Amino acid sequence: MEQDPVAGEIASLRTQIGQHNYRYFVLDSPEITDAEYDALMRRLRALEEAHPELITADSPTQRVGGVASGDFAKVEHRVPMLSLSNAFSEEEVRTWERRVQRLVGDGTLEYTVEPKIDGLAIALHYEQGRFVRGATRGDGLVGEDVTNNLRAIAALPLRLEGEAPAYLEARGEVYMLKREFARLNERRAEAGESRFASPRNAAAGSLRQLDPAITASRALRLFVYAVGRVDGVSFASHAETLAYLGERGLPVVTGMRLVEGIDAAWAACQAWERERETLPFEIDGAVIKVNSIALQQELGAVGRDPRWAIAYKFAALQATTQVCDIMVTVGRTGSINPTAVLAPVVIGGVTVSRATLHNQNEIDRKDVRIGDTVVVQRAGDVIPEVVRVVLEQRPQPEPARWVLPERCPSCGSPIVREQGEAMAYCVAADCPAQREERIIHFASRGAMNIDGLGERLAQALVRAALVRDVADLYAVSKEQLLQMDRLADKSADNLLQALEASKNRPLDRLLVGLSIRHLGTKGAETLAAAFRSIDALASADADEISRRAGVGPVIAASVADFFARSHNQDLLRRLREAGVRLEVDGDDGQALPLDGQEFVLTGRLGSMTRGEAEAALKRLGARIGSAVTRKTSVVVAGEDAGSKLAKAQKLKVPVWTEEELLARLRAEAA
Ligand code: IVH
Repeated sequence: MEQDPVAGEIASLRTQIGQHNYRYFVLDSPEITDAEYDALMRRLRALEEAHPELITADSPTQRVGGVASGDFAKVEHRVPMLSLSNAFSEEEVRTWERRVQRLVGDGTLEYTVEPKIDGLAIALHYEQGRFVRGATRGDGLVGEDVTNNLRAIAALPLRLEGEAPAYLEARGEVYMLKREFARLNERRAEAGESRFASPRNAAAGSLRQLDPAITASRALRLFVYAVGRVDGVSFASHAETLAYLGERGLPVVTGMRLVEGIDAAWAACQAWERERETLPFEIDGAVIKVNSIALQQELGAVGRDPRWAIAYKFAALQATTQVCDIMVTVGRTGSINPTAVLAPVVIGGVTVSRATLHNQNEIDRKDVRIGDTVVVQRAGDVIPEVVRVVLEQRPQPEPARWVLPERCPSCGSPIVREQGEAMAYCVAADCPAQREERIIHFASRGAMNIDGLGERLAQALVRAALVRDVADLYAVSKEQLLQMDRLADKSADNLLQALEASKNRPLDRLLVGLSIRHLGTKGAETLAAAFRSIDALASADADEISRRAGVGPVIAASVADFFARSHNQDLLRRLREAGVRLEVDGDDGQALPLDGQEFVLTGRLGSMTRGEAEAALKRLGARIGSAVTRKTSVVVAGEDAGSKLAKAQKLKVPVWTEEELLARLRAEAA
């Protein structure tokens, strides 16, 4: 039968969109812009609207389907979903391998080492290459049918690529990126909702939503690391299995290392533990697997745990300790930040003696009281937080519930908490604590990066009444600096030089440095790009800010409010008089080091996010391209770089490693 041209176009669009999803979510290296992607989706939607008879369940337009009614249906796992036995030390890993050697070993064995993703185990069923069903692990024998919610995860292929087997059940983990987790919690806090305790809880909570639209809105990700069943295909090794899953378009667990012998396997485990905090997602261990499938089968399982694999679990990033006191500090935007003062405890090698309690809502929800024993958690470079109270250990008689003070601990003016806001604020314009925090923040790395102006000196300058706001910094003389305690002649000169250099920082850094409530790095970059000068931004109202820069109403209102205040207008005037640049770089005709060059980034960077790397390159004048062409000046290739790296090599476009990129950025910043 001849194929109808509309059906042909629809099929082609679905294939293209599927491939772009794969590039974006799996390879992390999109080849088209978001706008181009949206255009493909729009075209597909329009065709399907005109021809509803051609809509199929595996169309990318159908990812977010109907709301489930009632609870999730139960799904039986035909092949049980196994779990893993744990090892908590090198000794336990070696004991495990001695048993493997005793049972099947006759020399050095091959092992694979993968990160142990801290998410939610799931099984994905494909029939004739189509995604038909997905289930949670449950108790390993019976899980819950979360098909509709899994479909909402963009990284999940609805159709397999290449030659699809009649039946494939892949197994893996649904997880949430750390940055998505932080964003989700921020939004929840703003809406007065409770925070999720970990990315894992957030992922589980999101996947088990009855409304797939919520799952879709929470940016879940997916990794696969095993097959439950596959018809008509067999594998000799685990590495081969993963390669096969990758070729079918499934997002295979990142960074699998194939090694010989237990020494190398243990070294790989340690490497993962060291890299743990630089990864964009949470891992709680490394999984060692015997590579040979024949040996795996020989080894079999004890109960639910296969003998051929072991999870080396990293030292916990949680510990219990006591709350000695609850104090409040005042942030640079006036936010009142309740903080638990803890009996010092070592968590993952770092001594923790303070933990954030976020705000009154969170304290109420967790019911944290002075004297309580609490579980404290540390993750990456974020401030440690109190996860929960160990109620069984609450002192008797019970301590009183804790409530926020009525007055600012620094300036004594009343604390204000507006309706609907989770945070309370000190709104006094001349609060000394706010002044100090604003100076410290202005000088910090993410803002104006003023070397030598740290916390102590900032406090001293404010307390000596030499500096009241950030513009005053530029009026400080060497003599005044020398009066400061322990500031040597040389340090004073260096600081004056650093201050001078900071006058040329890009506009977005200055905006970050002004401590405008709700305005972060990303928002500042967007505003700087849209308005190009402080004057243009300062004369816009909230509506225009929101419209022109595409920022949300909360940020827009806060920015407009900031510039409407007369003391801030005065601040801008004095910054201008001091010679601080208030326009976008390059608008004054000054050439930038990477002007006219186009960079393409691919693969995963270890030391920063893709967005941060792009922003740093843009500040030096570079353009960021999405595809590698003859016009591309440089390709920056991170770990697991894919097709773009190959293309760059083919076109002989220079390729930089992450180290080379960092070296260049450092050189330009110097
Ligand atoms: S293999 C038969 N590989 O850890 C072995 N599991 O504690 C099946 N997990 O239920 C699991 N990352 O949810 C394997 N790279 C990885 C993993 C991984 C995370 C989870 C999985 C499993 C649990 C066991």
